[in-house]
Amino acid sequence: MKDSKDLALDKKNIDIILVLDFGSQYTQLIARRVRELDVFSEILPWDISTEKIRNLNPNGIILSGGPDSVTSANTPRIPEVIFELDIPILGICYGMQTLAEQFGGQVTASSSKEFGHATINLEKTSVLFDGFSSGSSIDVWMSHGDQVSTLPDEFNLVASTSSAPIAAMEHVERPIFALQFHPEVTHTKQGNTVIENFVLKVCNCNPAWKMDNLIEQRILDVKQMVGNQKVLLGLSGGVDSSVTAMLLDRAIGKNLICIFVDNGLLRKNEAEDVERLFKDTMDLNLLVIDAKKIFHRHLKGISDSEMKRKIIGRTFIDVFDNEAEKLKDEINFLAQGTIYPDVIESSESESKEARVIKSHHNVGGLPDDMNMDLVEPLRDLFKDEVRKMGAELGLPIEMLNRHPFPGPGLGVRILGEITPEKVKILQEADAIFIAELIKANLYDQVSQAFCVFLPVKSVGVVGDERRYADVIAIRAVETVDFMTAAWAKLPYEFLAHVSNRIVNEIEDVSRVVYDISSKPPATIEWE
Ligand code: XMP
Repeated sequence: MKDSKDLALDKKNIDIILVLDFGSQYTQLIARRVRELDVFSEILPWDISTEKIRNLNPNGIILSGGPDSVTSANTPRIPEVIFELDIPILGICYGMQTLAEQFGGQVTASSSKEFGHATINLEKTSVLFDGFSSGSSIDVWMSHGDQVSTLPDEFNLVASTSSAPIAAMEHVERPIFALQFHPEVTHTKQGNTVIENFVLKVCNCNPAWKMDNLIEQRILDVKQMVGNQKVLLGLSGGVDSSVTAMLLDRAIGKNLICIFVDNGLLRKNEAEDVERLFKDTMDLNLLVIDAKKIFHRHLKGISDSEMKRKIIGRTFIDVFDNEAEKLKDEINFLAQGTIYPDVIESSESESKEARVIKSHHNVGGLPDDMNMDLVEPLRDLFKDEVRKMGAELGLPIEMLNRHPFPGPGLGVRILGEITPEKVKILQEADAIFIAELIKANLYDQVSQAFCVFLPVKSVGVVGDERRYADVIAIRAVETVDFMTAAWAKLPYEFLAHVSNRIVNEIEDVSRVVYDISSKPPATIEWE
């Protein structure tokens, strides 16, 4: 595949805040807070090239916190180019410390880490604290080991706490500010005001990064990039690829060719629903590839979970490539629904920055002889921004708010060997569970819910007869980030009703169990 061009904003027309990442767990939050002010912000690693920073031409820079200590050698420092640009700078936590050190101040390691709430006292008026009167105090969130112990020569003290005498400082004449606390976290009450003051009053950014402008702008960008040529998109029915499809459809209409692969491991009626929505209702150029038999043939006799994942992934690539190959003479671009967290995760630092094909993953690699550029119109958007865009583009609400569904689909929810019969049973059970969650207004209260087909038979009585039949587990979790999760405390009456429906309506199932394990130590999926 050819090197991809970046399809991002036409950055000439918008104001940008660069967030330089020193490795803080809160870096993404900083960018979110800036975008909530309708100003675009981009995160780049602290060791990004000078050229990239210059090309971005930001209106202001925020230096994030980070886990290192400036008192150790070989820890990150602010690149000189930042100072040469002569634009406003705001250092947060580690960003403050390295700023102080680079301007000749002193940073010392404190014996204990300060972590949690603190109160800062404003010692001096500052545009950064516009709206707060001098002498007032503000509740803030601290998370640091080191602190600035001696102000650099050209800086004034702005605020202090009892344990951090230099909690905020500013340059005597240049627009350079630094904070020991974290204004980006919600625990810092009024932290948003501080960020707003920096972005709108110090950097003078124009808050013009609005969703409707953004959609129009992206459509123009795509038209400009693609012209009259054709674009191929692997549509999974998930939010990211669906929003990408709708945006590209608005931009290039029938020159977008979407491929949806039915791998035989989808939810009940999913392929039909996707076809109805995108092809019949929205009139997209969509090819639905019925590859159920190929997947089931490749999966026959396989019970190991990692093997199953690999086979499903590889078969997907084969099927997709096979279709793409047929179209290769007419297609010039490959579109992907890559979103900002995918990009950040794959580029911790400049050296590791790689354009990785989104891999959990619907589109794998394409044959080498296919010369395509990548089109990734959502590449710089957060998930909630993608949802907002989808809503504006008219993607139905139930698709926008749908729980995540793993790439290998029901393949990781059928423990042991996968057969079409088991898929059918699981689809029916899952459809009952989800329909009941929606009916009881519980669907949006849990983050992910599904059924699992267990590899055991258990005894049951039907009429006078004892018989061994299948067991279905139901799982529902609450989580923010899917890294940790709590099992959902669904009402007993609700669980009883779901269980009754499953055993009564699905002949092969005689028993339903509810998974009461949280993550960790359990994972969300069973395989
Ligand atoms: P676990 O089971 O690791 O799941 O707690 C965390 C989240 O990731 C999803 N998941 C996957 N998604 N391919 C995917 O695309 C996979 O192989 C896969 N395994 C787990 C899972 O559904 C949950 O949202």
